Amino acid sequence: MTTSASAGEVLTGDDELYDELYDVRREAEEVGNYIDVDPYPLMNAAREQGAVQEGFLRQILGLPAFHRQKGALERQGFTCFTFEACDQAFRDNVNYSNNLYSLDRPSGDGPKPYGILEMDNPEHHAFRRAVQSLFIKPKAQKWWRENFIDALVDDLVRALHGQDRAELNLQLCARVPVHTITRAVGLRGEDALVFRNALLQTSANKGGIETQMKAHATVQRMLMEQIELRHQEPGTDIISWLLAAEIDPPGEERRHLTDQEVVVFARLILLAGGGTTWRQLGIVLLALLTNPDQYHAAREDRKLIDAAIEESLRWNPTNPLFTRLAAADTEFHGVFIPKGSILDICLGAANRDPARWDNPEVFDLHRPFQQHLGTGIGAHMCLGRFVAHVEMGVTINRLFDEFPNLRLDKDFEEPFVTGGLEQRGVSALHVRLQ
Ligand code: HEM
Repeated sequence: MTTSASAGEVLTGDDELYDELYDVRREAEEVGNYIDVDPYPLMNAAREQGAVQEGFLRQILGLPAFHRQKGALERQGFTCFTFEACDQAFRDNVNYSNNLYSLDRPSGDGPKPYGILEMDNPEHHAFRRAVQSLFIKPKAQKWWRENFIDALVDDLVRALHGQDRAELNLQLCARVPVHTITRAVGLRGEDALVFRNALLQTSANKGGIETQMKAHATVQRMLMEQIELRHQEPGTDIISWLLAAEIDPPGEERRHLTDQEVVVFARLILLAGGGTTWRQLGIVLLALLTNPDQYHAAREDRKLIDAAIEESLRWNPTNPLFTRLAAADTEFHGVFIPKGSILDICLGAANRDPARWDNPEVFDLHRPFQQHLGTGIGAHMCLGRFVAHVEMGVTINRLFDEFPNLRLDKDFEEPFVTGGLEQRGVSALHVRLQ
């Protein structure tokens, strides 16, 4: 699909799709997982009752039932809460499998729509290797930053000049990640919002199956158009990289990815990279703006911005819940988990486990760093975590440079973290710039 707007207009303009797509509460309501409470007191209390317990997380917390994979709810559920148990569950991809995204597909086999996210080893390893080297820290700090992030943040921050007030959730946090990832994959910058809208509609409850099918077709067509172009003329983007990559899938000769495998890979990267960083950037800004001492410390000593980002991922990770499928009968922290059941990994509770962190409820960028689970751990640890870190770091640095008096706008309700258990972010971020 083409639009008449230029890439620059879509980046900094007032497209109403931003309001539609980047409202954390509305997003959760459309997915069907919105919760009207702060889940942390509930998760902390549950963690005290045992490292691993029978029941889905929502059952244990007394919240309405929801699972991204509808087929999961027909199975027996278990949840792990402590840092030790969640860390072990993430790392044990043999017993606790990622192959659960297809529970809703009648046959359970066929192409995996979520690609590497729903693969186990050795298949997972073979496919993840195809892109791993584009996502390592030095690449994030150079290729991603120099080609996309610096220029985008520059344009967005410049567009704020001359304003006294801004709403940073919509004007900044939403825009940096979606435009970074759209351009890096190799789609046209002006298509960023149209594509994201279609991508989200492929799994939204709203609109029903017909809307979902239409959205699938749009996503497929837009990616295939670019794949065909890159076959003729390779560029310096993720699609071109994927087309050139060779993989060693188990039981097969070394080969290139098929076009459909490239579609799946690109779709996952666009999906995973567009929403998470938007929400997490809002959370780290909220943490800084509501803790003026830490805000000023980070402004004076910019190395502390890295610490603030990591601490935000511990304190309030945008995804406090991930899930696994039990691939075998196991005894886990004294609880028998039968093969075929579902294991909810409550990494939100793990990240505030007092056995690992002092005063875990408090956002404290000065605390000594210890690995948290905000970007997962083990084989599926977030592929894009260094990219996300650079996007957030560059944005915060630029805000500090350009707006020394940046502060919350007291004419608006104080922002808070909201959403579901599977994705959380800020209610809004109204600020004064001057
Ligand atoms: C602050 C932002 C982000 C957070 C909090 C986050 C969180 C996570 C987590 C917790 C996982 C592990 C899932 C599991 O174990 O099942 C994951 C996986 C993944 N993330 Fe991120 N992510 C972020 C940003 C990004 C970005 C920017 C990209 C792409 C550019 C990305 C791409 C992926 C992919 C492809 C996977 C699947 C990896 C695999 O299955 O091997 N993420 N992410």
